[in-house]
Amino acid sequence: MTRSSPPAPPVPLEDRRFDVVLFGATGFTGRLVAEYLAAHADANGVRWAIAGRNEEKLQAVRSELAARDEALHDLAIRVADSHDAAALDALVPETRVVCTTVGPYAEHGLDLARACARHGTSYCDLTGEPNFVRSVIDECHDVARATRARLVNCAGYDSIPSDLGAHMAWDHARRAHGEGLAWVKMFTGRTRGAASGGTIASALGLMDAAKKSKDVRRLLLDPHGLDPERRAGDGAPDARDGFEADQRGVRFDEDLGRWTAPFVMASINTRVVRRSHALFREDGGGYGQRFRYNEAMSFQPGPRGLVTASLVTVGLGGFFAAAALPPARRLLERFVLPSPGDGPSREAIEGGFFEMHLLAETESGRRLRGRVAGTKDPGYGETAKMLSESAMCLAKDGARLDPRFGVLTPASAMGMRLVERLRDAGMTFDVHDA
Ligand SMILES: NC(=O)c1ccc[n+]([C@@H]2O[C@H](COP(=O)([O-])OP(=O)(O)OC[C@H]3O[C@@H](n4cnc5c(N)ncnc54)[C@H](OP(=O)(O)O)[C@@H]3O)[C@@H](O)[C@H]2O)c1
Repeated sequence: MTRSSPPAPPVPLEDRRFDVVLFGATGFTGRLVAEYLAAHADANGVRWAIAGRNEEKLQAVRSELAARDEALHDLAIRVADSHDAAALDALVPETRVVCTTVGPYAEHGLDLARACARHGTSYCDLTGEPNFVRSVIDECHDVARATRARLVNCAGYDSIPSDLGAHMAWDHARRAHGEGLAWVKMFTGRTRGAASGGTIASALGLMDAAKKSKDVRRLLLDPHGLDPERRAGDGAPDARDGFEADQRGVRFDEDLGRWTAPFVMASINTRVVRRSHALFREDGGGYGQRFRYNEAMSFQPGPRGLVTASLVTVGLGGFFAAAALPPARRLLERFVLPSPGDGPSREAIEGGFFEMHLLAETESGRRLRGRVAGTKDPGYGETAKMLSESAMCLAKDGARLDPRFGVLTPASAMGMRLVERLRDAGMTFDVHDA
């Protein structure tokens, strides 16, 4: 079905058989999400099912889950290919929420988002691909608003810590001081994590799309590329005080008192935070009259920090340069990078962790400090938690969420309710006056 098809009258939410369908349960991240839901769905009163394109693999996932909890022998399975619109049209109205780990999303994700918008089914995913998010906004926002669905992209390590971190700072500024924010900066702190094959495939897919399409290149350079309405003069950062341009090199941040370097995920995280602000602005002032946001990696203040920040910047540039050259890319794919379906070991996931430091200034110049942290590998252990809690929040907490629908961010869809859930699940979200 195409964009011009009229929305089907949605099946009433109370008539839906499931609260959450996990699509992509056979993938590396999907299995981790399935394990998280297996452990927490009952306590949340969540009726759930697993789905994917391969029935045998889905049965194997169910057997693994049932080996730990025999009640899951009867876990429902649904089979659908992400490019089969008829199969998606049968699956999507069965549930209140679809939670999808089928990626690369730009390659496999748009038909599902369209089906969710049409059927009034809420949706969350793990994309970090700005071109995919832009397509979902352009194609699904108005339809999802009409059917009262919340479509939430980027509900994993990118971009929940950044998006909810900034949102939490705004919540504190309003409640404690009755004012908005002038700016927020987030900095990575101590972090241990790795990448899966699906994540690498998504990053390489984005590079390929940028190589082929001028529109994608412009989008990636546009600091407001995910705002509801793209501004005139797309791609020209508002550099009034250097805030809105992406950090390209090593810089000493005077507010933090540390050396900083570009953070690879800033290209999506900063756009998501700015979209949240823009969506809140539609209902009022947003995070602040001239709210600005940026993020970077941070290192020690002295010469060692300068050297490390420089090495990281050069290393990152070298990796992307190599990945852009076909022979080097083939070598990387063959010998260095994980393949789709592979990822870090259980020990690595359990032994991982992350923290992000937050600095903010209110509109009257009051300084805030904060921290967002997790105790497992950010991209897998903590991401499975963030995505699953988002899905359960969308399915069960509707009465406590703002009545905002369409293509949303984690903060604009679930706000402080999701912060509460993630705190209860062991993550740190802390903010206080400096
Ligand atoms: N935001 C974050 O922090 C974060 C963290 C982790 C992952 N991710 C993203 O999550 C995505 C998945 O990563 P991963 O490592 O889990 O990938 P993966 O192991 O390769 O899994 C991909 C999943 O997609 C399914 N799939 C592929 N094509 C399909 C189709 N046409 N129809 C239905 N299902 C299809 C696969 O099914 P089969 O098993 O049948 O092949 C598999 O279940 C990637 O885009 C990655 O970037 C994001």
